[in-house]
Amino acid sequence: MSLRSNRKEEHLVLAQRFYQDNKQNSFDQMHLVRPALPETEVSVKAIQTTMFSKKVAAPFFINAMTGGSRKSYLINKKLGQVAAKTNIALALGSASILTKEPSLSDSFLIARQQDPTGVLIANVNAKTAAEQAQKIVTELKADALQVHLNAVQEIAMPEGDRDFYWLNNLKKLRQKVTVPIIIKEVGFGLDERTIHLLKNEGFKVFDVAGSGGTNFAQIENARNTNDVSYLSDIGLPTVISSLMAAKQQVDFIVSGGVRNPLDVFKGLCLGGKAVGISNVFLQALIKHDVNYLQNLILEWQEELANLLAIYGQNDLTKLNEIKKYYDLPLKIAIDQLL
Ligand code: FNR
Repeated sequence: MSLRSNRKEEHLVLAQRFYQDNKQNSFDQMHLVRPALPETEVSVKAIQTTMFSKKVAAPFFINAMTGGSRKSYLINKKLGQVAAKTNIALALGSASILTKEPSLSDSFLIARQQDPTGVLIANVNAKTAAEQAQKIVTELKADALQVHLNAVQEIAMPEGDRDFYWLNNLKKLRQKVTVPIIIKEVGFGLDERTIHLLKNEGFKVFDVAGSGGTNFAQIENARNTNDVSYLSDIGLPTVISSLMAAKQQVDFIVSGGVRNPLDVFKGLCLGGKAVGISNVFLQALIKHDVNYLQNLILEWQEELANLLAIYGQNDLTKLNEIKKYYDLPLKIAIDQLL
């Protein structure tokens, strides 16, 4: 197995090792006011929406994880099956490995084969050449392309990049790629300045991928001979990053540390067009099986519909009108930053 492919397998093992059920994060410090007289009824239709012009059953999806190794072939196969059965979108892990090792393409294509018509999102790093990225999009029949910005992760990796001049290539990607591009972090959060800068360069969709869930400093630290554990705390919490994206008036996805349907609902109330979940769904699959994950997602769909009703909503259009308030530590950070 190549170094790169091996790294993908290590990420899967370490994401499991460091996974903490219900770890506290910024969603716990955010609260919503509920009407005691809702005047609504529960309907799963109320949570249906569209993503990249396709109908989906819910505004949450399986966010980017894997591809490019033997284990990831099996995982993407199962994720594709689950996405098809539950009719939610699926983002695959970085396919940049294919520019060096094209023979690994099956581990990505298998997901599209399981879900021929659903919303499938491809993912590459910020250095991937535009022609290569477009080739990946075409082969996967991807509906959108995530481009991940992962400077902290790279710096935590002994073999990682040390050159972060990415903007020129991002511009080339924007010009060449024929599907919508989503600019995404990997769990350290997009800051307002970056969102603003890239908005001015014509990028329209962002995935905040804030801190509070999977922590790639911790994961890479376990693969590193140097101790870089001090990098684990430098991320921007998901709630703050989401408020920054909302302030910039861009379309955005809320992700990073989403643990349950209430976190999904809070993400939507922050203004997210959709909410992405990675490790919680991966662990449901790895520790149990494909049926367990499928049932979990169907349960989340029902529970999200329940939440909508008890918060007085008959559809997803007015969630921004729900009053939000924050515990003091988060409020202090928000007051300083926004
Ligand atoms: C990831 N993530 C990720 N992101 C990305 O843009 N490209 C990638 O290849 C990967 N690979 C990857 C592997 C594994 C095993 C995990 C768990 C995660 C990051 C992911 O999309 C997300 O931004 C973070 O995991 C934070 O979300 P959660 O896990 O807290 O829901």
